[in-house]
Parts: sequence; C-alpha cells; structure tokens
Amino acid sequence: MDISIIVAVAENSVIGKDNQLLWRLSEDLKLFKKRTTDHAIIMGRKTFDSIGKPLPNRLNIVISRSKDLEIEGCVVVNSLEKAIELGSQQSHKNEIFIIGGEKIYTLSEKLATKLYLTKVNAKLEGDAFFNLKPYENWTLVSSVSYKKDEKNEYDFDVLEMVKP
Ligand SMILES: NC(=O)c1ccc[n+]([C@@H]2O[C@H](COP(=O)([O-])OP(=O)(O)OC[C@H]3O[C@@H](n4cnc5c(N)ncnc54)[C@H](OP(=O)(O)O)[C@@H]3O)[C@@H](O)[C@H]2O)c1
Repeated sequence: MDISIIVAVAENSVIGKDNQLLWRLSEDLKLFKKRTTDHAIIMGRKTFDSIGKPLPNRLNIVISRSKDLEIEGCVVVNSLEKAIELGSQQSHKNEIFIIGGEKIYTLSEKLATKLYLTKVNAKLEGDAFFNLKPYENWTLVSSVSYKKDEKNEYDFDVLEMVKP
C-alpha cells in the first residue's frame, strides 16, 4: 500500500493563505482528480473547511482532535494512523492519498512512500508551508512541465517521487 502525498508548492514553500489555495491551475486540478478518484483521501479539518464539501467518488477521511465532529459524506478520525488504517481497510486500491494541509503533511513525513509534487513557478505570500527537505533525496520517477495559459496562472512542473 502506497501512502502518497499530493501537494502543490510555490518556489518559497508556500501552499496556502487564509485557508485557501493561491493559484488557479486547471491542468493540475485535473491531474489531482484523475489520481485520487476512487481512492481514499486523507485531509486535515482545515483543508476540509477550505474545500467546503466532500470530494465526489472518493472516501473522504478528515482528521480532527474533536471527539464529536461529524461531517456528512466524510469519516472523521482523531489521528493520521487511524486515517491510514481506515483508508487501507475500506479502499480496494493499493494507494491512499494525503491531500493536506501543512499540519497533516508534516505528520505524514515518516509514513509517506510516494510524493506527487507540483512545483509552482511563483513566489507568493502565504501562511501555510510545505518544507521539501525530507523529500530531497527521494527517487524521481517522472517530471512533466506545463506552461502558463488562460486556465493555468503560472508555469508549473509535476514531479512523481518515491521513497528510496
Ligand atoms: N497547495 C496544496 O497542495 C494544499 C493542499 C491542501 C491544503 N493546502 C492549504 O493548507 C492550509 C491548511 O493547512 P493547515 O496546516 O492550516 O491545516 P490542516 O493540516 O488542513 O488541518 C489542521 C487540522 O487538522 C487537525 N489536526 C492536526 N494535527 C492533528 C493531530 N495530531 N491529531 C488530530 N488532529 C489533528 C486539527 O483539526 P481540529 O482543529 O478540528 O482539531 C487541525 O486544526 C490552507 O491554506 C490550504 O489551502 C494547500
């Protein structure tokens, strides 16, 4: 079972501001949808709030410290370990996705086996970050470049990396 982090990061490690994404990258969203559909996705409660609804055709698992939080269309758990256990039991796929945000990415560092990294060609002001250091020595599987256009605000590269 792969535990895959999927994240889009600006050049200065920023991933969000005021609990929102900072870019419109239509091609990256399409890739996100293609990769995660029919899989379990694990997110922090703040990232769920930012998205605002369960993502369709996926098992949505939300991590919160709250013992009585209920979210329609999602399973709420109190730890990353519980989220992974549940995701692997209930998904017939051999891959689970960690979709953010900062706190949950940090919790996942030691458990993750794969990284889908979108490097956004911009330096932006934000308040949520993804520190790349733990992944710098991972093995690069593929890298594809995309150009800015009317539906994609910035140039970006999509890297697939695995834990060596
Ligand atoms: N660029 C990208 O690819 C990307 C992807 C996703 C998100 N983001 C951005 O990331 C930002 C959100 O990140 P964030 O770090 O503020 O929030 P987050 O990681 O989405 O969620 C944090 C919440 O998770 C729960 N939590 C954290 N640690 C926990 C633990 N050890 N045990 C149990 N529950 C725990 C808590 O929920 P409770 O408060 O309910 O207890 C906490 O408030 C936003 O700006 C969003 O847009 C960017």
